[in-house]
Amino acid sequence: MCESIYHQEKHGYPREVHGSYGYGPLAAYFAPLPFLPFLLIVISLFQPTTALSTSHQPVFAHSLSRRAPNNSTPLLECLQVSPPVLSPKPCQQTLMVHTFGYSYGLPFVAQYSPPGCDFNRVTINFTVSSAGRQFDRLGHAWFNDTEIFRTSTAEPTANGIIWTYTKDMSNFLSLFKGPQKLIFDLGNIVDDTYTGSWNTTLTADFFTAEDVDPADVIFPVSSHKSGSDQPSQFVVPDVQALSALTLPQNAKKAVFSIAACGQATEEFWWANVLSSDTNAFGNETTLYGYSPFRELQLYIDGTLAGVAWPFPVIFTGGVVPGLWRPIVGIDAFDLREDEIDITPFLPALSDGKEHTFEIRVAGLDNDGNGTAKLSNTIGSNWPVSGKVFVWLDAEGSVTKGTVPTITAPEPAFDVSSSVSKGDNGSVKALDYSVKASRRFSLSSTIETSEGSKVVTWSQDLSFWLTGQLSNAGNDQNTSQSTTGKDISTTNAYSKSYDYPLWVISSYNVLPDTNFTIDAKMGRGKYVQQSGSLAFPSSTETFDYTLLDSEHPTFVGTQTNNWQNGTAHYLGSPALKKSFGSGSTEQLYSLEGITDPTASGVDLYRRHIVAINDSVTYDQEVVGNSMHVSQGVTAAVAQGERTFARVGIKAMLGRGPL
Ligand SMILES: *[C@@H]1O[C@H](CO)[C@@H](O)[C@H](O)[C@H]1NC(C)=O
Ligand SMILES: *[C@@H]1O[C@H](CO)[C@@H](O)[C@H](O)[C@H]1NC(C)=O
Ligand SMILES: *[C@@H]1O[C@H](CO)[C@@H](O)[C@H](O)[C@H]1NC(C)=O
Ligand SMILES: *[C@@H]1O[C@H](CO)[C@@H](O)[C@H](O)[C@H]1NC(C)=O
Ligand SMILES: *[C@@H]1O[C@H](CO)[C@@H](O)[C@H](O)[C@H]1NC(C)=O
Ligand SMILES: *[C@@H]1O[C@H](CO)[C@@H](O)[C@H](O)[C@H]1NC(C)=O
Ligand SMILES: *[C@@H]1O[C@H](CO)[C@@H](O)[C@H](O)[C@H]1NC(C)=O
Ligand SMILES: *[C@@H]1O[C@H](CO)[C@@H](O)[C@H](O)[C@H]1NC(C)=O
Ligand SMILES: *[C@@H]1O[C@H](CO)[C@@H](O)[C@H](O)[C@H]1NC(C)=O
Ligand SMILES: *[C@@H]1O[C@H](CO)[C@@H](O)[C@H](O)[C@H]1NC(C)=O
Ligand SMILES: *[C@@H]1O[C@H](CO)[C@@H](O)[C@H](O)[C@H]1NC(C)=O
Repeated sequence: MCESIYHQEKHGYPREVHGSYGYGPLAAYFAPLPFLPFLLIVISLFQPTTALSTSHQPVFAHSLSRRAPNNSTPLLECLQVSPPVLSPKPCQQTLMVHTFGYSYGLPFVAQYSPPGCDFNRVTINFTVSSAGRQFDRLGHAWFNDTEIFRTSTAEPTANGIIWTYTKDMSNFLSLFKGPQKLIFDLGNIVDDTYTGSWNTTLTADFFTAEDVDPADVIFPVSSHKSGSDQPSQFVVPDVQALSALTLPQNAKKAVFSIAACGQATEEFWWANVLSSDTNAFGNETTLYGYSPFRELQLYIDGTLAGVAWPFPVIFTGGVVPGLWRPIVGIDAFDLREDEIDITPFLPALSDGKEHTFEIRVAGLDNDGNGTAKLSNTIGSNWPVSGKVFVWLDAEGSVTKGTVPTITAPEPAFDVSSSVSKGDNGSVKALDYSVKASRRFSLSSTIETSEGSKVVTWSQDLSFWLTGQLSNAGNDQNTSQSTTGKDISTTNAYSKSYDYPLWVISSYNVLPDTNFTIDAKMGRGKYVQQSGSLAFPSSTETFDYTLLDSEHPTFVGTQTNNWQNGTAHYLGSPALKKSFGSGSTEQLYSLEGITDPTASGVDLYRRHIVAINDSVTYDQEVVGNSMHVSQGVTAAVAQGERTFARVGIKAMLGRGPL
């Protein structure tokens, strides 16, 4: 019995999407979560709890020792659930200690010089604290004109919050080996209402460990503003995101990565409607258009070279902020980049001449009659930047080969929408759906000093969504999923992913200007990967020193990540305050894969529940060691739990401003 419950817990990653829409072949994985207290008892009976060394922060470190400014109440620890990263500390440098108060257009700027120690690996520790009232903010770190980290903030409490995020940066080794201008941009506004500043510390740890095969050279596709001490993102669609680059002639492998996320009218792109329906509820509730589908595209010399269908990141003020405290949304502290293997272009790019690289963001244009095509623009806006990671062949050799054969049939889009009306002719509901699929592949023969070989990159993507808006646009429910498989001959790379998301939300404007928002959501990020391109995989950066035993060599990684929750919000513009409650649950697991036919080896699992700002249950498993805590956070938020957002449209992407 224990075995079966343990098994269910282990494999019970929900893949359900709300409503009657089946979840395809993955539905079999879904099993309801066992009743928590029961689970706890069973596990503590049969899985002895092993206390691990306390030196391994943040694993098992639910410390209440960090004190608020007035030294009486601890700061609330916020977190993004993620696996422990190897980060020994033989050689550390502090890159930034800075408070972002009123910081719009005022990034932190400093000179970086490599440390004197030997290193082939680098991690960063970004630690932030804040107290007061503040929105979620977007932050980016740059080395000269190259974006190296994109993050966002948790919303502070009156008493204060703190978080630490550790990230392996070894893929940027070539940048860390030379002098750089560090530009950290975290635009913030402080006034009578929004009082929170961000106290930040960014440190880097340099060490020697297993090599992750970092690129030899990295070229930015960015707006090149570091000379004027500014960050270099392109803001699309206001500007064209294009750079002309001359690559070395002896490149043997090249990978393009895209950093991109929707902001302002595009923050909730996944909740947008078809352009033909933006006025379905009259002009009081103008909805955002271009559909709830987005595609990031890479064009090399004007030719489509690959695409990415983005993961729907939800920031901590999104939908209902009570969903994201203290556990933030998936990827909120670390907005991941999508990668495209452009090695098949190398024969064309190794001619010593300039070539253009352009990132575009597309949604859908539709005619209202069932036909949709990729749009040339989207709402405002998407900050984007790109990088070309290049691995070099022997000095003096020149890469040759054939021009790539590109197989890119027109993507297929199937959209529909219908409006149902009440007896008096008013619109009761808008139902809409979008389906998309695309295949793309590149292939060429490249000749390097290692000989001649055929290199290919292929992508197979699909997306579906069904949504409904009703009650004059106040209520929305949307279910969607993006699935894809990218395969490359480089490093036997393959990546299969699946991003289900459902959200049910409802707002209600009260006669006294107060308003409420209620929401439920479930979302996941499931990735199975073998090999890696420019960024190391979680099994390459995992902290194996936490395991009791030797680990096998892994060829792949399976990550399951799921969050679901319910939250309520009351905004009181007259009081300039907002109140909220909520509960969120997250299941995360990382497995190492030794061979594709064998089952994975457990490396890290976490099951965590937060209710009303407090972590109430936390089960963490590293290898075979399990630690379970219940009621681990002190009751830091007794009484009112306040949040920053005051406008419905800023939280949901619809409704009054
Ligand atoms: C990260 O940095 C903070 C502040 O500099 C420090 O308190 C914390 O111990 C560090 N955490 C880790 C895991 O290195
Ligand atoms: C931020 O730093 C300032 C200046 O050191 C300090 O007064 C304040 O208490 C800090 N706030 C938090 C939340 O840590
Ligand atoms: C310290 O902060 C707590 C929580 O905000 C508050 O209740 C308490 O009054 C503060 N104490 C002092 C001395 O300011
Ligand atoms: C980056 O900036 C540093 C310091 O400002 C400068 O020394 C270095 O040459 C720059 N690197 C590149 C590749 O432009
Ligand atoms: C839209 O707004 C205009 C004035 O701004 C008003 O005349 C018109 O009746 C409105 N239409 C609807 C459908 O609400
Ligand atoms: C859509 O269909 C309607 C009815 O068949 C037709 O009147 C209208 O012109 C069509 N619109 C477009 C953009 O094709
Ligand atoms: C139409 O009926 C709905 C209820 O079914 C009501 O909420 C709405 O105000 C009515 N509209 C008009 C224009 O009478
Ligand atoms: C969600 O939308 C579906 C139709 O797409 C509808 O049948 C269902 O009642 C809605 N659920 C909620 C909770 O609003
Ligand atoms: C709004 O809600 C708050 C908190 O519940 C309440 O104190 C206030 O009276 C309500 N009305 C206005 C106009 O603020
Ligand atoms: C998450 O979903 C599971 C399965 O449907 C449910 O039992 C659990 O109560 C949900 N958790 C929260 C915090 O809503
Ligand atoms: C969370 O807070 C809300 C509003 O204050 C309250 O109704 C609810 O009972 C709280 N939930 C728990 C589990 O304490």
